[in-house]
Amino acid sequence: MVYNLPEKDRIIKTTYGKGKDEKTVINLKSSVHQSPAWIPLKKKQYEKSEVSQFIPPSPCVLVGFSLSAMALQVIGTGLSLLRYRKDLRPRAVASSSEASTITREEDKVKLGGSDVKVSKLGIGAWSWGDTTYWNDFEWDDRKLKAAKGAFDTSLDLGLNFIDTAEVYGAGISGAINSETLLGRFIKERQQEKGSCEVSIATKFAALPWRFGRGSVLSALKNSLSRLGLSSVDLYQLHWPGIWGNEGYIDGLGDAVEQGLVKAVGVSNYSEKRLRDAYTQLKKRGIPLASNQVNYSLVYRNPEENGVKAACDELGITLIAYSPISQGVLTGKYTPENPPTGPRGRIYTPALLTKMQPLLNRIKEIGENYNKTNTQVVLNWLICQGNVIPIPGAKNAEQASEFAGALGWSLTDTEIEELRSLASEIGTIIGFPVERL
Ligand SMILES: NC(=O)c1ccc[n+]([C@@H]2O[C@H](COP(=O)([O-])OP(=O)(O)OC[C@H]3O[C@@H](n4cnc5c(N)ncnc54)[C@H](OP(=O)(O)O)[C@@H]3O)[C@@H](O)[C@H]2O)c1
Repeated sequence: MVYNLPEKDRIIKTTYGKGKDEKTVINLKSSVHQSPAWIPLKKKQYEKSEVSQFIPPSPCVLVGFSLSAMALQVIGTGLSLLRYRKDLRPRAVASSSEASTITREEDKVKLGGSDVKVSKLGIGAWSWGDTTYWNDFEWDDRKLKAAKGAFDTSLDLGLNFIDTAEVYGAGISGAINSETLLGRFIKERQQEKGSCEVSIATKFAALPWRFGRGSVLSALKNSLSRLGLSSVDLYQLHWPGIWGNEGYIDGLGDAVEQGLVKAVGVSNYSEKRLRDAYTQLKKRGIPLASNQVNYSLVYRNPEENGVKAACDELGITLIAYSPISQGVLTGKYTPENPPTGPRGRIYTPALLTKMQPLLNRIKEIGENYNKTNTQVVLNWLICQGNVIPIPGAKNAEQASEFAGALGWSLTDTEIEELRSLASEIGTIIGFPVERL
């Protein structure tokens, strides 16, 4: 059994820094495994930990921030996180070797200069439990079952890298925190399959009232508590703070040194901020593993603003969010059938009309490979090198389609043809925090 493994097989020792600054951190080999030390939350604590702990946001908190739908979600949930009870502490988790996964070692890639290896394509869990941007503002048992299907199918197919954040699915009545759901899915899979090998990435919200390195550690401990884990594979700053950024970076370093995370990254960071963060961590001998940014065939800002080039130069993995343009690049939305909800304000019928020549060509190219639009556009991103896309899956079918983006490659001519067609569409609205 997993927990009968000798200790040397269950831990990884990593040394950071040199001379008197040298520190050895002991990490478990992977985040989640069957273990007698896995103690599920008591029912009462569990109920308290999700909906009832999240209080709807006060409108005054929103003043001074972008009015974009995503920013509203982020700020709204921030207030709730501030009020999240801190009485649920992470439980110890034992570890195993590569127990029951079908992911082949050669299919995995390292996150930047860290020792963490993940699948070449991850899964985004923003929509799980969310009622502010996704799910037509409602969460119910059917959507919960579908999200669990997405989680299980992803792992069954070897897509074992899952991205969440403390602000996903929080803040509004009826929502369930994505980390809480993910923790539940992990535990259920352990019970059903005997083990669950998954690499979890989560994020710290740089809310204006959070100061200093200590705020990073305390937010991380609350995330671990919701996830039911003793450590995560990747901890990211969700966006740059209006102030206090050096303290946040120090907090990331502390998290590594305390063994609470195996790798650290940032998100929505410009080239300049990325270089500064990289340098600051490097002084402690800690690699900045990743920068998670909006990147897709139709949103190529990272290619134009120096972020992709800086990631390549410094050995930082670019994690691509919204890689299928929030569903639009799948081809299922048309000028006559635009997406509903907040997405409809970005992907208007006028924009969808401009996208049709590109979508038609993606379809033609896909047919030559027996691949869907979704698989072609995800493959396009992987072909850029040093990019891990993390498409959001709401159900098993969507997750299963993502797996077909791996194991083949577009030609250089096709890659350039698609880039050139995409460049005719013009600017698409992004997440304003990119410009902080
Ligand atoms: N760091 C950040 O600031 C940031 C910002 C945004 C996202 N993210 C991360 O990136 C992840 C992915 O980004 P995203 O969710 O914004 O956008 P995305 O991955 O481009 O699109 C996801 C949406 O596309 C639709 N879809 C997925 N698979 C499909 C398929 N096979 N066929 C047809 N439609 C499909 C689904 O919505 P419908 O079925 O409703 O169409 C799904 O919710 C997030 O979950 C989150 O983890 C991070």
